[in-house]
Amino acid sequence: MSKEIVVSGIRSTGYLHLGNYFGAMRNYVKMQDDYNCYFFVADYHSLTTHPDPKDLRANVYRVVAENVACGLDPNKVALYAQSDIPEIPELYLMLNMLAYKGELEKVPTFKDKVRLNPDNVNAGLLTYPVLMTADILIHKAAHVPVGKDQEQHIEMARNFAQRFNHRYGDLFPEPFPFNFGDTLVKVPSLDGNGKMSKSENLNATLFLADDDDTIRKKVMKAKTDSGPTEMNSEMPEYIQNVFQLLNLVSSKETIDTFTNTYNDCTIRYGDLKKQLAEDMVAFIAPIRERAQALQADESQIQKILKEGAEKARESAAKTIAEARKAIGISYYG
Ligand code: ADP
Ligand code: TRP
Repeated sequence: MSKEIVVSGIRSTGYLHLGNYFGAMRNYVKMQDDYNCYFFVADYHSLTTHPDPKDLRANVYRVVAENVACGLDPNKVALYAQSDIPEIPELYLMLNMLAYKGELEKVPTFKDKVRLNPDNVNAGLLTYPVLMTADILIHKAAHVPVGKDQEQHIEMARNFAQRFNHRYGDLFPEPFPFNFGDTLVKVPSLDGNGKMSKSENLNATLFLADDDDTIRKKVMKAKTDSGPTEMNSEMPEYIQNVFQLLNLVSSKETIDTFTNTYNDCTIRYGDLKKQLAEDMVAFIAPIRERAQALQADESQIQKILKEGAEKARESAAKTIAEARKAIGISYYG
């Protein structure tokens, strides 16, 4: 039986962090043996904020290196740059004709970006979910491993797929978000405000490239308080966040110990953070070192991207030929 198809992308907008790892990359690595996987660097998506052309290459290389450092095997998956697949913008153009201004303006991530950068509300930003849909449908993917923040974008991808199918005949399967476990992951930022992110909350985000001391400093600054005063009381959200991080990287024993001391009001948050910091260091340091070594080997990264693009284009070319035919773009034969 042929394997089910998986697509996911990460924007080349900065350093990858713990949220990217637990929301996306951890799932990529777990899926690589059992699914037909297409993972890519969303460099076109990063252009909405007009990055300096000088930075693009290093940013793309870093995303590739960090993915491989986390355990992704380029021999098992197609790992490529979005801009190496011209069929993606072609499908994006087709899908744009089926996407309406009103629905795009209502997308919460779009509204957030407009609020943050009112002077840069470009058409690429508005149609961001359409390009994302093209990324997914170009390989006819059924599963999209992403963090919780992308749930709504995938819902839009399902809508656009249905709309295409309705108008031009069944071509695309409906893609669904994927996560091992019951719910999609949101890794909280250390200051208790929102999620870890490449572009916001930088001091409250743990990056896979952070050195050991930076990790320790950031963790020690995580928001806590003087501790609970009533036995078995409910945790405030910022304490839940710290426990969520502990759950990601610490042993069951450590988690149980601190949960018990929280419940009987003897918890010392200083001790908890020290332990969390050491567990984070132990988790991040080997990834950082592997990524650094690979980034130093540019020819290896280029080889990975080239081979990834070849695999991805094979599948993309098939889909785009079918989409053209379905629409009626067929003049010579
Ligand atoms: P960022 O939001 O940091 O710029 P991207 O938008 O490129 O990162 O996201 C790449 C992947 O990482 C997506 O699947 C996204 O859902 C996931 N992701 C990003 N931040 C988090 C987070 N804090 N928790 C869980 N998943 C996240
Ligand atoms: N929009 C995603 C993000 O900001 C990145 C992305 C682009 C993506 N295209 C995709 C994720 C296709 C999954 C599938 O995180």
